[in-house]
Amino acid sequence: MKFFLDTAKIDEIRQAHAWGLIDGVTTNPTLIARAGGDFVETIHQICEIVQGPVSAETVSEDAEGMLREGRLLARVSPHVVVKLPLTLPGLQACSALSAEGVRTNVTLCFTANQALLAAKAGATYVSPFLGRLDDISTDGLQLIRDIVAIYRNYPALQTQVLAASVRHPMHMHQVALAGAHVATLPMSVLKSLVSHPLTDKGVAAFLADWKTVPNNDICAQVEAFLAKRAQA
Ligand code: E4P
Repeated sequence: MKFFLDTAKIDEIRQAHAWGLIDGVTTNPTLIARAGGDFVETIHQICEIVQGPVSAETVSEDAEGMLREGRLLARVSPHVVVKLPLTLPGLQACSALSAEGVRTNVTLCFTANQALLAAKAGATYVSPFLGRLDDISTDGLQLIRDIVAIYRNYPALQTQVLAASVRHPMHMHQVALAGAHVATLPMSVLKSLVSHPLTDKGVAAFLADWKTVPNNDICAQVEAFLAKRAQA
């Protein structure tokens, strides 16, 4: 399962990339506005850092405008994935860009039928929005399960399910069980995945016990051991 970071904040992306935990990044106009930088410079910088798929969203409302923006955005970096809304113009632009070999992420997906259409249009990724469905008392997870099952029925459909609008650690657990190919998660959720009080307690206990071990400098010990072995 691939992890994408759902942010346009460069410091967060650098940090998560340094941890070795992210395969790509998703942005949207809201995240770009929150981060505050120049759109294209930000996308380029993110691509340089992650060297993996980076979703950059078009903002035109007609297919012609989306195509023009998408073709230009794809020239910013080979890592750019053009993000398009799940509307008829978005699907039209997706079909055309896919035929040209440009990778696409069809976003704002809220039904399995919409996901089928995104796959028919040749989308590289479809983004069902889990949290926003949960927000309106609809089972977002069931949507992910349904799309995964439907795509499995038709192996010719190559579109990957990118679980989006992930809000908490249980969402990650659930979409992984459901078989989503990718999940995009905010930094707060990524950090929350690692936390467990028994891990923290265990580390503290091991370190306390280690202090009672004589000659407990591991590096010095290994270097001495290696030097002795080289002389033997
Ligand atoms: C990512 O592609 C989506 O734009 C994002 O996950 C939406 O998340 P939100 O519903 O928390 O805004």
